[in-house]
Amino acid sequence: MGKDINQKIEQLRKLIREHDYLYYVMNQPKISDREYDRLFAELKELEKENPELITADSPTQRVSGQPLEGFQTVRHSVPMLSMDNTYNAEELKAFDERIQKQLKSKDYDYVVELKIDGLAISLRYEHGRLVTGATRGDGEIGDDVTANIRTIKAVPLILMEGEKDKSHAANLFASSAIPDILEVRGEVYMPTAAFEELNRLRAEEGEPAFANPRNAAAGSLKLLDARITAQRNLSFFAYATGELSEPLADNHYDCLKKFKQFGLPVNPNIQKAKDIDEVMEICLSWDKRRSELDYQIDGMVVKVNNLDQRRKLGSTGRAPRWCISYKFAAEQAETIVESIDVQVGKSGILTPVANLTPVLLAGTTVKRASLHNFDELNRLGVGVGDIVIIEKAGEIIPKVIEVKEKASKHAVVFDIPKTCPVCGSEVRKDEDGVYIRCTNPDCAGQLKERLRYFAGRGQMDIENLGAALIEQLVDAGLVKNFADLYKLRRIDLLCLERMAEKSAGNVINAIAESRTRPLWRFIASLGIRHIGGQSAQILTEHFDSLEKIMSASQEELTEIDQIGPVMAASIFEYFHNTKNVSVIEELLAAGVAPEKPKSASSDKNIDKTAVVTGTLENFTREQAQEQLRLKGYKVTSTVSAKTALVVAGKNPGSKLDKAKSLGVKVIDEQEFLDILKE
Ligand code: IVH
Repeated sequence: MGKDINQKIEQLRKLIREHDYLYYVMNQPKISDREYDRLFAELKELEKENPELITADSPTQRVSGQPLEGFQTVRHSVPMLSMDNTYNAEELKAFDERIQKQLKSKDYDYVVELKIDGLAISLRYEHGRLVTGATRGDGEIGDDVTANIRTIKAVPLILMEGEKDKSHAANLFASSAIPDILEVRGEVYMPTAAFEELNRLRAEEGEPAFANPRNAAAGSLKLLDARITAQRNLSFFAYATGELSEPLADNHYDCLKKFKQFGLPVNPNIQKAKDIDEVMEICLSWDKRRSELDYQIDGMVVKVNNLDQRRKLGSTGRAPRWCISYKFAAEQAETIVESIDVQVGKSGILTPVANLTPVLLAGTTVKRASLHNFDELNRLGVGVGDIVIIEKAGEIIPKVIEVKEKASKHAVVFDIPKTCPVCGSEVRKDEDGVYIRCTNPDCAGQLKERLRYFAGRGQMDIENLGAALIEQLVDAGLVKNFADLYKLRRIDLLCLERMAEKSAGNVINAIAESRTRPLWRFIASLGIRHIGGQSAQILTEHFDSLEKIMSASQEELTEIDQIGPVMAASIFEYFHNTKNVSVIEELLAAGVAPEKPKSASSDKNIDKTAVVTGTLENFTREQAQEQLRLKGYKVTSTVSAKTALVVAGKNPGSKLDKAKSLGVKVIDEQEFLDILKE
């Protein structure tokens, strides 16, 4: 009996590992998330009943329960060197000439890889099992971040034994046996969508935004509580070896192939190049296409392929001579700050924004740039009239990075507002935060933002109720809370400027139509801190009615998978605030009747695959993917002839071309929203 259970448990683990591999490494899931969750729950249950059978490498044991006191240090058995940089074709050519001279031959080839903008990590596998994950540190000694690394699903806890190739039995490298000691080096990174979502949540929490995905990845790996790291959606690409008990291959390209066979994630865009001209071509083409990627790159890495030749070339102590990076120029532009606005967000955060003389940057005209917060504004010393440099990294909104020329030597730097620019109330700096907030819960600025969010496409989706109309409605005193929207009459609207009979009717109809939006949209529209569309869906799937959500205790909320204690506290607090409760009661009295969730997702799409590409206005990529999953789709990131649907936002890139050439159905954001409403 005990043996049977052990066998069953091992089988489930193997199955889950295979599906993790297909999903996180290959990007080709074969089962729906629901099926996966079922397998996972079954394993968890069996392990709960038989705790003596739990092993450290079980997929259920990725996240450890207890925060660490601090990090141990690890001495790298093979040092982790850094890399020299080049910035243009001449420098790259000079690198090639040095190689040619040192090798006294023209007989060598290169491997060209993307330079992933994350942080270097060394993973040590012993007998195929992950034993240590360490940061680079000073190259000799790094931090032991194993607990955090284990939470990254793309990092296998156990390596897969590849197929043995019997036909090449004589060839030293033909077998895919895993060396007893295998150190894998690579980059931990945060995908762009995860980065944007994290910063959005941090802004709501009043925590400073991470400046870029690299900082976010580094910050997430250096957390002492792995449970938080687990929520950060980090990923990993393997690109080099450290210590090996036996060689994997005689060239780099084949080493990477071996990595793949072992189940390690290797970036799919790695190319061989026969000479430096071909290298240059590849570099230039990726410079143009980098916005197609779901993660940030800051250049390319060029490596001599043959390992014997690498040994001959050696290193300078600091960096190997056989490899070089080709750094892309950051996308920057110069312009003038015409004015600085202070915006009030829906939770009262005051954000300085620079209005700029329009300038072309990375293909789009930029008129505004974020100054993040007042500490940042003062650090940069930005004032009106200054010439500034703005920068755009990937899809992230442009930011001012430096003042190039002050308007005048004595120009005053923008003063931190002492009162809210909208309502004039007192402002307060968040405790241990950098954000300044308006303290007035009835501030018109906050109300307008909350209403805009409420009516937004991802929430109640009220067509015709845009920012300008909301502004008028609040200024005229017609709307003081969400419920007032549903009490508006045509005649009220006709009193507003520029409002004709027909458009007044359209607005009233659109508001009325939103009364029966799904419950999750209603919950999401309230703007509860930390609760966006995805968490709202998790809540409504669990509780199935508004009353139950409103009366849930913090303990009940925390018990839900994916609802952490911070979220639980925020939900509980929101629904125990008498003002919020009375607005909800008013909403219900005004005829708002959110639709209860239908049982689970629609089965009609099961086995259909969907891909999201480009930037959507109302969703981060992850949110859009989540919506598709809830509709029953399997979501992948590569388009093939089997793909049933491609959702294409702005700047969709090559995935759209591929979909078109394969005749795959492509829909835009509006059509996507229509599908979600079905
Ligand atoms: S190879 C001797 N390959 O770039 C260096 N590094 O600026 C061996 N990086 O510390 C590293 N993508 O963190 C290599 N495809 C890639 C890379 C890569 C990103 C990072 C790595 C390194 C840094 C140097």
